[in-house]
Amino acid sequence: MSDRISPLPFLWGAATSAHQVEGGNVLNDWHDWELAPGSGCAEPSGSACDHLHRYPQDIALLADLGLNCYRFAVEWSRIEPEPSTYSRRWLDHYRAMAECCRDHRLLPVITMHHFTNPRWLARGGGWEHRQTPERFARFCAVVTERLGDLAAVAITINEPNMPALLGYEEGVFPPGRRDREARLRVTEMFIEGHRLAVEAIREVRPDLPVGLALAMAEWQALPGGEGEVESVRRLREDVFLEAAGGDDFVGVNTYTRHRIGPQGWVGNEAGVEVTAAGYEFWPEAIGATLRRAWEVTGGRPLIVTESGIATDDDRRRVEYIDRSTAAMRGAMADGVDVRGLIHWSALDNFEWHHGYAQRFGLIAVDRDSQERTVKPSARHFAALAPTGAR
Ligand code: FCB
Repeated sequence: MSDRISPLPFLWGAATSAHQVEGGNVLNDWHDWELAPGSGCAEPSGSACDHLHRYPQDIALLADLGLNCYRFAVEWSRIEPEPSTYSRRWLDHYRAMAECCRDHRLLPVITMHHFTNPRWLARGGGWEHRQTPERFARFCAVVTERLGDLAAVAITINEPNMPALLGYEEGVFPPGRRDREARLRVTEMFIEGHRLAVEAIREVRPDLPVGLALAMAEWQALPGGEGEVESVRRLREDVFLEAAGGDDFVGVNTYTRHRIGPQGWVGNEAGVEVTAAGYEFWPEAIGATLRRAWEVTGGRPLIVTESGIATDDDRRRVEYIDRSTAAMRGAMADGVDVRGLIHWSALDNFEWHHGYAQRFGLIAVDRDSQERTVKPSARHFAALAPTGAR
């Protein structure tokens, strides 16, 4: 297998996704979901961080910090507003973003799919429709043709395990289903979509490193919970890790741990600090998930494509960064091949059904004035970059 990833420096950057920061995204399924009565969404995304217009300023801020990459997503519903009609204007827009990164010496890490689907796709059956994997791969080819020469890394699908679980079994993401069979079918479709997208991207740009990003947690078995951990992990993580075997890397997104007993999740441990997202403050989880991804994929290179914390106390973010970075380095010292650490998120942004109250950003955003304020944790994180990263 050719080694596409080794020419890159160790990636040290921050991430966003299109729908969470751009504003004015009205052609996708999430827009409809935010407004649907009973969907449980706290508030609509609205103008978000107006990153659509303010990306030059945001990219300049990330570059000034001394980071070396910016992970952002293209919005499928803008680029393909109707089936097989591709918008030159929006392809040019994302090309301009990638160019802006390059002008600032930031490597563009581009996500093709980060939770949102064009409305026409969702209404026509979404990821249950047998043509969706192929349509997605075609979209990836179009994007790669237009801006693949500027990309440093391509991520096909962000956390396919989350929309499969939350959208089809737990009903909190669109399309709001509660049907385990549908989740199983969609899991297969996402895997197929990823596989076809890797092929499509490689056909256009054979040297571009490509992989997916997976939501992973540290699963801790309490006595008697070992079998349950195996079964939860199988469908949430392992099936995707196994499908990533031929990829250039696997992206690992990790926030916390879950303790599992014979009956499943037992909740947060009494006395453990809880973040604003309701998770246990458990930065060490990244060490466990990297080891697990390494083991199940038989030693694929890994990139931490998301790690971070929702908090209004920036000192907790600093501690989270220190401890998660140490945990990553511990895994690396044991031989796990890690190629980067990308913090979630660059900006305080729209946290899906939770709305704007959970703040994951290294940079604060005042949503009335759209003013940006770099938090101390941003400088702290940037200062931890390995030598030679820039
Ligand atoms: C991940 C998502 C990302 C963000 C963080 C907090 O599951 O990929 O969009 O919501 O969690």
